[in-house]
Amino acid sequence: MIKAKVEKAINEQIKKEEYSSRLYLQMASWCEVNGFSGAANFLYAQAEEEREHMLKFIHYLNDRGGYSKVVELEQPPYEFKNITDIFEQVLKHEEFITQAINEVYEVTLNEKDYTSGNFLQWFINEQIEEESTMSTILDKIHLVGDDKAGYFHIDKELEAMAAARPETSAE
Ligand code: FEO
Repeated sequence: MIKAKVEKAINEQIKKEEYSSRLYLQMASWCEVNGFSGAANFLYAQAEEEREHMLKFIHYLNDRGGYSKVVELEQPPYEFKNITDIFEQVLKHEEFITQAINEVYEVTLNEKDYTSGNFLQWFINEQIEEESTMSTILDKIHLVGDDKAGYFHIDKELEAMAAARPETSAE
C-alpha cells in the first residue's frame, strides 16, 4: 500500500500533467486559428503526450493501492501575443513541471518509497528532453527572427517535428 504522503504528491502531479495538456491544447487552438498549422500540430501532439503522462501517473497510483483523483482545474490562458510568446510560456511551464517532479521525487525519498522513486526516474529523464526540445525551438525562433517571415519558417519546422514525433504510450 502506497504511503499517504506519496499518494498526495502523485495526485498533485496528476493535476499538473492534466493542466499541461489543457494549456498546450489551448495554445494549439490559438495557433490553428492564427494560421500556424505546423505549430498547432506540434502543440496538439504535445497536449496528447501530457495526457499520457497524466495516465501513466493514474495507472501507477491505482496499481500501488492508491486512488487517483480527477479534480477541477483552472482555466489556462487563451490570449497570446505570438509564437515567441507561446514557446516562452511552454519552456517556463516545463521548468515548473521539472521542479514539481523533483519535489515528488523528494517525497518518495523521505518516505523511503524506492519503488515510486524508481518510477519517477522516467519522468526525470523525460523532463530533460522536454526542456531541451522547447529551448531548441526558442533558439530557432530567435535565429530566424520573430517576424512574419521567421514565423513562416518556424511553422514549417514545427510541422516537420510534429510529423517525426514517435508514437507515445501511457503503458
Ligand atoms: Fe509531462 Fe511536459 O511534462
